[in-house]
Amino acid sequence: MSLEDHWDDIYRRRGPEGVSWHQQDPSTSMRLIAEAVPGPEATMVDVGGGSSRLVDRLVAAGFGSVTVADVSATALAFAQERLGPVADRVAWVHTDVRAWRPEQGFDLWHDRAVFHFMVDAEDRRRYVETMRRAVAPGGAAIVATFALDGPERCSGLPVQRYGRDELAAVFADFMAPEAFEGETHITPAGVEQRFLYGVFRRPSGTPGD
Ligand SMILES: C[S@@+](CC[C@H](N)C(=O)[O-])C[C@H]1O[C@@H](n2cnc3c(N)ncnc32)[C@H](O)[C@@H]1O
Repeated sequence: MSLEDHWDDIYRRRGPEGVSWHQQDPSTSMRLIAEAVPGPEATMVDVGGGSSRLVDRLVAAGFGSVTVADVSATALAFAQERLGPVADRVAWVHTDVRAWRPEQGFDLWHDRAVFHFMVDAEDRRRYVETMRRAVAPGGAAIVATFALDGPERCSGLPVQRYGRDELAAVFADFMAPEAFEGETHITPAGVEQRFLYGVFRRPSGTPGD
C-alpha cells in the first residue's frame, strides 16, 4: 500500500473526527503561531495538515495566506467540505512533503504529528531539505512530535519520539530553537498522548537555496 493509500484509508475508515490525532480546538498551535509571526499578513503552511481544524481557526483569526499540504487527498477533501466557500481562501497542496518544492517561501511552517513518522534517516533528510527551502529568512517553524514518553506507534506506523535536544539537533544547520512546550493530547478514545512542540527561527539573511 502506498503512503497516500495508507492515510486515505485511515481517514475514510475513521472519519475526520475519529482519527486519534483529532483536536476540536488546536489552541496550542494557534497560540504559538500568533506569537511566532508578525501579523495577519504572514504567509504560512500547515504541513501534513490533513483534516485539522487549525486552518479554520487561522482563517477566522484573519490570516490571509494559509496553505495546507498533505499526501492524503481524502483528508484535504474533508477539510474543504467542512469549510465550504471559505475553502477558496486557502491554498491546498496535495503532495508528499519529502518531495515538495514550494514555489514561495513561508513566514511560518507548522507541522503537528508528521515529522515524527520520518523514522529513516533518508526520509528525515528529504523532509528537512523541503523545510530548508520553504522557510523564508527570519521565518519560524513549529514542529510538534510525540515526546520521549509519547507513543511508539501511530496509525500502524512506527514513530520517532523526541526530546528538546534531539529535535533542535535536526534543524540545527539552519534554525535556532526559540521555545519548547509539552502537551498532553487526549485522543477521541480517551487515551493520553504526550507531545513536544518546538518553535524554531531561521536567522534573517539566510537565503532558501
Ligand atoms: C497524525 S496526522 C496529523 C494531521 C494534522 N497535522 C493534525 O494535527 O491534525 C499525520 C498527517 O500527515 C500526513 N502525512 C503523512 N506523511 C506525509 C508526507 N510524507 N507528506 C505529506 N503529508 C503526510 C497524513 O496524511 C496525515 O494527514
